[in-house]
Amino acid sequence: MIITVNVKRYDPVEDKHYMESYEIEKTEKMKVLDALQQINDKYDANIAFRFSCRAGQCGSCAIKINDKAKLACKAEIEDNDTLAPLDLEVLKDLVVDREPLNDKVRDYNLYMISEDSYSDMEKPSVINPETYEKIGNLSDCIDCYSCISMCPVLTKTDDYVGPYFMRFLSELTFDPREDASKTDEAVDLGMYYCTSCGQCSVTCPKEIDIYGKAIEKLREQACREKQGPLKEHKLIRDSVITTGRSINPKSEKYPEGFIKAYNENHKKPETSDDKPKIAFFTGCMIDYRLPWIAEYTINILEKLGYSVDVPETQVCCGSPLLRTGQTDIIPELVEKNYETFKDYDIVLTVCAGCGSTLKKNYPEYGVNLNVMDITEFLDDKLNYDDMKEVDVKVTYHDPCHLVRGQGISQQPRNILKNMKGVEFIEMKNADKCCGAGGGVKSGMPQLAEELADEKVENIEALDVDYVVTVCPFCERNIQDSIDKKESDKSVINLMELLNEAYQ
Ligand code: FES
Repeated sequence: MIITVNVKRYDPVEDKHYMESYEIEKTEKMKVLDALQQINDKYDANIAFRFSCRAGQCGSCAIKINDKAKLACKAEIEDNDTLAPLDLEVLKDLVVDREPLNDKVRDYNLYMISEDSYSDMEKPSVINPETYEKIGNLSDCIDCYSCISMCPVLTKTDDYVGPYFMRFLSELTFDPREDASKTDEAVDLGMYYCTSCGQCSVTCPKEIDIYGKAIEKLREQACREKQGPLKEHKLIRDSVITTGRSINPKSEKYPEGFIKAYNENHKKPETSDDKPKIAFFTGCMIDYRLPWIAEYTINILEKLGYSVDVPETQVCCGSPLLRTGQTDIIPELVEKNYETFKDYDIVLTVCAGCGSTLKKNYPEYGVNLNVMDITEFLDDKLNYDDMKEVDVKVTYHDPCHLVRGQGISQQPRNILKNMKGVEFIEMKNADKCCGAGGGVKSGMPQLAEELADEKVENIEALDVDYVVTVCPFCERNIQDSIDKKESDKSVINLMELLNEAYQ
């Protein structure tokens, strides 16, 4: 099969960036590296690119394929792929300068102490399977720098060294053969700038969960060593300890939160016995700050014939504490939520962060609930013929903890594309972090704002009325930037749009 491959090239002599397209014969399961070699052979194109092992082990061949950093020796070439260098200083075509990063490794002294330096210390322990558990696959890094190239924070600040170095610091901190903890270096090198967007983890070709297993564990260790958290993060912990919620109620209609009022005033409709027993996990933001989203959600579910419980004994899922390393009170929260939700068939969430925490972190504490994001639940149940036409042009922002945390991106798009009167337009970098997560909105508000500003620029480039999302944190952060810029766009929660269509 003949396919077209686009290559972003750079001529250092002329200091010229340019794009060239080539037609090649694609063989079955052909890799990007083979495609590049065929281009050079067939066209005498002399494209510069690196490779060595051809087996995903040396990390030298990493490039960007359609804007995602990947190993050229592992990724399959597809028709119309665009190949570009990593977002580092380009030397020629697809070859980037790795030296500045190597220099930083030396500068930060990211080496294990050699055995000789242990002369007056106890001989270091060898790694056995049990101790290896502690560092997991942190040591599998192949220095491809893909994570560095994809990290959204690195485009906004020089105060963060990035996920590659955080993984290093974490490995050295938790490796049982190494005595010294590196948490103070991690704090100095910007550990609290990570938004927990998970882009590094999904990019890593060795599947190292860099934000979850390196950065969050470093933050946890920093708390143990009193190197952290930030003072703003401490307030969140204080709030959870005092009230069970990470924030205070601020709704005029629901001064004590949505859940309490719902249970006092709402009469649940009768449903048939064949329906699953559903509980609604609202999360702190929906309960206390965006209660109307809970109203809309329940409205939609009842229109579809489902009745839901909103148990009053539910507490904060613990996400803001897990993301900032304040894990000491997590077991207590997990226990309370387990007791609250254990007898339900389905636990529904409308907050990406809560859903991701209940699905991914709770099993680490031995709790497995059947959790579904609302878009996952509604995707095959909505009856679009029952909805009225809404006549809006929209785009969609992927919350990090939905798209990468829960693997959900198509369901909200399916819903939008099927709604009558909705014109859906995809935006550039829809799945790029808006800056709301990881304790950054509270601890590093300037960074959260800059990331949201970039998101709003991408929204403003489109002829749309709304950006739709399904995460209260993203909703607030993007709306803050829209308000600041006095943009004519607005954020709308998918539940609000659906509720409107069901009127
Ligand atoms: Fe070694 Fe691709 S050539 S990882």
